[in-house]
Amino acid sequence: TTVEIIGVPADYGANRRGVDMGPSAIRYGGLAAELEGAGIDCIDGGDLAVPRAEERDPDTDQPTVGKAKFLRETADVCGRLADRVERTLAVGTVPLTLGGDHSIAIGSLVGAAREASIGAVWFDAHADLNTPETTPSGNVHGMPLAAALGIGAFDGVEWANAPGLAPENVALVGLRSVDDAEVELIRERGFAAYTMSDIDERGITAVTEEAMATASEGVDGVHVSLDLDWLDPNEAPGVGTPVRGGVTYREAHTAMEVVHGTGTLRSMELVEVNPTLDQYNETAELATELAASAFGKRVL
Ligand code: ARG
Ligand code: MN
Ligand code: MN
Ligand code: MN
Repeated sequence: TTVEIIGVPADYGANRRGVDMGPSAIRYGGLAAELEGAGIDCIDGGDLAVPRAEERDPDTDQPTVGKAKFLRETADVCGRLADRVERTLAVGTVPLTLGGDHSIAIGSLVGAAREASIGAVWFDAHADLNTPETTPSGNVHGMPLAAALGIGAFDGVEWANAPGLAPENVALVGLRSVDDAEVELIRERGFAAYTMSDIDERGITAVTEEAMATASEGVDGVHVSLDLDWLDPNEAPGVGTPVRGGVTYREAHTAMEVVHGTGTLRSMELVEVNPTLDQYNETAELATELAASAFGKRVL
């Protein structure tokens, strides 16, 4: 396989500035060298052009969609990302998208699920299943999974809905900060959802194997969405919405090795790296290592 790096320096969906520097931080953290060192071919497709948030109007009250900041800008970026991801897959290359905040996952999922059926595994402290009606913050990074699945105000919104993604092929891993409306939605729709307690009790290997099996059942491949706040803030301090009690360095690597071992990984993204909150850029460096493990790096 050849991996294509696609940078998306967007932070329209986050609660604070800085994740727009994620693609630079992850490249500077040695992504290409890490992948090549592991024997994985990669090309850097550069960054999408993303206008600065300060130059835009957050427009929280758009008539058709309720409360969601920068939704128009998010739609524009995600539309272009979806096209890029779709083209990358069409030539047989594996997209590795670098955020940016997690709202860009809407573009990744739409692009990956246009010409194929996919599953998605969401490695994250959060469920990202809010909608413009339920969001406590108005931040779209708390909504991408709901958007891609067409839930709530996202129902029938073409730019946001991933055609080839069905809810029964979605799995969430590492949950520890879930809003009430998200809890209700997970129960109601029966999403495969694994909390940190599930990981504590069953171990990261069993949980990740089950999540990947759910996501890959009957589809062409799996999209892995890795929000760096999935990890414990001790390991990954450079994120905008840290939550204590996350997975360890070893658990994260083990999970990515399980991902690779299934042979079903079709596209991936690394999101929410905020280098302004990370003195030594260790979160971005960790992201590069986890990507290498997901794409097959082995010691021996
Ligand atoms: N659930 C909260 C919200 O909707 C936090 C979401 C954080 N999401 C993330 N991708 N970091 O605002
Ligand atoms: Mn306005
Ligand atoms: Mn998160
Ligand atoms: Mn997230």
